[in-house]
Amino acid sequence: MIIRPPADIAPSEITPLSVHARRRDLMRVVGAGIAGGLLGSGVATAAEPAATPLDGIVKGRFSTTDPQTSFKDATNYNNFYEFSTDKYSPAGMAERLRVRPWEVVVEGEVARPRTIGIEELLRQPREERIYRMRCVEGWSMVIPWVGFEFSRLARMVEPTANARFVEFITARQDTMPGINYGILDWPYAEGLRIDEAMHPLTIMAIGMYGQVMPNQNGAPIRLVVPWKYGFKSAKSIVRIRFTSKQPGTAWNKAAANEYGFYSNVNPEVDHPRWSQATERRIGEFRKRPTLMFNGYAEQVASLYTGMDLRKNF
Ligand code: MTE
Repeated sequence: MIIRPPADIAPSEITPLSVHARRRDLMRVVGAGIAGGLLGSGVATAAEPAATPLDGIVKGRFSTTDPQTSFKDATNYNNFYEFSTDKYSPAGMAERLRVRPWEVVVEGEVARPRTIGIEELLRQPREERIYRMRCVEGWSMVIPWVGFEFSRLARMVEPTANARFVEFITARQDTMPGINYGILDWPYAEGLRIDEAMHPLTIMAIGMYGQVMPNQNGAPIRLVVPWKYGFKSAKSIVRIRFTSKQPGTAWNKAAANEYGFYSNVNPEVDHPRWSQATERRIGEFRKRPTLMFNGYAEQVASLYTGMDLRKNF
């Protein structure tokens, strides 16, 4: 797989669609006069944060002090296979994603199954969590997410004693050309063991960089599990199911020998086709060593006491 660093892309290649859409929004919101001035000075480009800031954000726990990836790179170099397998395309194509109305069905082994409107989820206390994200393909980013702990959502439905796993199921829309290709078993689905889901590091993210979640990053709500490879962090979630049995996951179904259920970041267990010992932080030149559990071992290693992590990869 050839990975072209985002810094290489010419501005002309970047998301004309999203720029136009944002400019349209900006015009509508602030009026043609001011927007005209901004556009004239070239301020409103894909490199700038989207025009929808989130207020009331408090600093959360566990944030890394590693330098943050630029907003431009984090929103123009994405994996969102429902749109495209190309990393530069979701930025423009995901503008079509319909993010309202949006509901998340929460069901399964719970005392109070509920369908929760996105407005209620957006009203949960907002924390900023600056997390490392290590992609299975060998690159990584540092992203300031805005969200709330998954355990807060669980409390809204009261999982029963039979709830041993959580399945996260994502949107399938006619706006997504990628789902016409059999790359994965759509909808994209992921799963966690219940104690992993309830760990305070696991968040439901509704934004990043102090802004409403950009579509290409999984609007309006996504999972973020920072000690696991990036593909566990499912985007654009519509259904959360508490289960007694380990759920299937999209990548495990596609290639069970390459993508296990756990998918904990582990520099000692290579992917069958490449090493996981090092990574390239987007925006940096030199590779850096990959850390056990992506640097979160102190917080999560105890979840796996006694488990053979080579078998449970
Ligand atoms: N969620 C959905 N629904 N579809 C996807 O293709 N890709 C995953 C994950 N969540 C994916 C997804 C992968 S492989 C990664 S690395 C991260 O999203 C990328 O998140 P980012 O684009 O916000 O950096």
